[in-house]
Amino acid sequence: MKQIAVIGFGVVGGGVVSLVEENAAYIRAAVGDDVRVKYILDLRDFPDSPYRDRVIHDAGRIWDDPEIALVVETMGGVRPAAQFTLEALSRGKHVVTSNKELVAREGIALTREADAHGAAYLYEAAVGGGIPLLRPIRTALTGDRIESVCGILNGTTNYILTRMRDCGAAFGDALAEAQKLGYAERDPSADIDGLDAQRKMMILTAAVTGVLVGAEDVFTETTARLTVLDIDAAQRLGGAVRLIGMMRREGDGISVSVCPRIVPGTHPLSHVDDVYNGICVSSRLSGDVMFYGRGAGRFPTAGAVVSDVIAALSGACRYEANRVWSAPPAGFVRPFSELTGRMYVRIGGISPSQAAESASALFGDCAEVPGTPEGKTEFVTPAAPDGVLRQRLARMPGVTESAIRLL
Ligand code: HSE
Repeated sequence: MKQIAVIGFGVVGGGVVSLVEENAAYIRAAVGDDVRVKYILDLRDFPDSPYRDRVIHDAGRIWDDPEIALVVETMGGVRPAAQFTLEALSRGKHVVTSNKELVAREGIALTREADAHGAAYLYEAAVGGGIPLLRPIRTALTGDRIESVCGILNGTTNYILTRMRDCGAAFGDALAEAQKLGYAERDPSADIDGLDAQRKMMILTAAVTGVLVGAEDVFTETTARLTVLDIDAAQRLGGAVRLIGMMRREGDGISVSVCPRIVPGTHPLSHVDDVYNGICVSSRLSGDVMFYGRGAGRFPTAGAVVSDVIAALSGACRYEANRVWSAPPAGFVRPFSELTGRMYVRIGGISPSQAAESASALFGDCAEVPGTPEGKTEFVTPAAPDGVLRQRLARMPGVTESAIRLL
């Protein structure tokens, strides 16, 4: 019998406990032994829960119990989750987590601690919810060289952008719906301002390269400024606005970004709607490989946690690549301002003819946008380094209502 403890009996932790109980037979078959939740650590009591007799409030009982082989950390946040994780790993107990913030922030120390004590530290549920993504990258795709990863990694913002497009919903109303459905983070600004997707890109990048970049290395832009006019403009350009995370190899280094982009209608990511996530992994031999599925929600995420529990207890995870992470060497992360791209721009507050004249003087030969609303000027810039585009934009007369990068 393998005994495990669950720390944090919230949405995901509760899902994990019920999945382990309900699917005991197939988990036993996969692990080669029975798996049972012995403790549930939480500050609260759960008098109505069928698992109330397993709820404890003293974390020390977990560390001191030699029967506990694995700890599931679904409490979220950095403190005290980091301390709890270190306590478990230092005693050789495996740790499985859905805690993106902790993995992205402390991943180097935690993967090293796990390695030093022969334990596994696994976090499949931290990226892409129920989509098997990190494990395929660290097993099935290791015979290939992954050149880039590009995807929609935040279900809440994708839900909001879809509702804005399909129902003309205002940003705030669509967010309230996503919160009601349980997709949003406790502090939804983590979703809206791109921090959740930023953390996921940091973890994905580390899964691909073994290097954990810092949050400051990821160019990150909020979705909060997007309006229904932007969504409409993207549709008139034949695409859709999506919050896109991107990691690309650039020579000996990489670039990493998270920002809203207009995705052309011919790209599969433009058709990823609602709470779904989609991730396109491009590699040298296989070309594009797409992953698609539910990126948030109780049971998709809990299912990913349970798959890690099985991988750790069966020993299967020993064969995964990039289990131990390092910090980026100097110059490894290329500045976003140097990367070339195009931008959709909307200007108000001056006459369209004056704005068009300034746009071509500053940017050169801009492409037109069909169906521009009365009194506005819209254009798509030619390709140029991002920093150059931003400098020129700052010199545009009138009011820059919108500037969205193209994929
Ligand atoms: N708030 C996250 C999202 C939850 O919307 O994607 C899943 O990580």
